Amino acid sequence: MTKKETYQNIYQQILAVTKDESDLIANLANVVAIIQEAFHFHWSGFYLVKDKELVLGPFQGPLACTRIAYGKGVCGSTWKDRKSYVVADVHQFEGHIACSALSNSEIVVPVLKNNKVVAVIDIDSTEFNNFDHIDQSELESIAAYLGTIWP
Ligand code: SME
Repeated sequence: MTKKETYQNIYQQILAVTKDESDLIANLANVVAIIQEAFHFHWSGFYLVKDKELVLGPFQGPLACTRIAYGKGVCGSTWKDRKSYVVADVHQFEGHIACSALSNSEIVVPVLKNNKVVAVIDIDSTEFNNFDHIDQSELESIAAYLGTIWP
């Protein structure tokens, strides 16, 4: 299966497991589980916008920073700029927050509800340059769907 086909599969799984469930945390936890089961990334998870910070949400992987300020790191930049970041080498990203010394590349995609960022999807890899436009567009599709079911 190609990467795009795998993403299309997991999109269908995400729709199936979330469509009859209204609890946000339960749904985000299953979304991360579905992503991880398919791709086995180093770390996959959500940070949720709460007041002036991003706060750690459901994730799979090693323990992570709990709070990230607006505009800080890749996640805070995604929130501030309301756009995805695909970072081939996190060590070259000004202000990158190293939650795990093993992470070398990262993708962060915003979840928007009514044009406001409500969360970000953050995925880290131990490989350099692990993410491309396919990861970006497919994760943006998942994020767009989540925006429609966000409470
Ligand atoms: N590296 C992220 C912080 C979150 S961890 O990767 C889980 C950043 O720079 O925003």
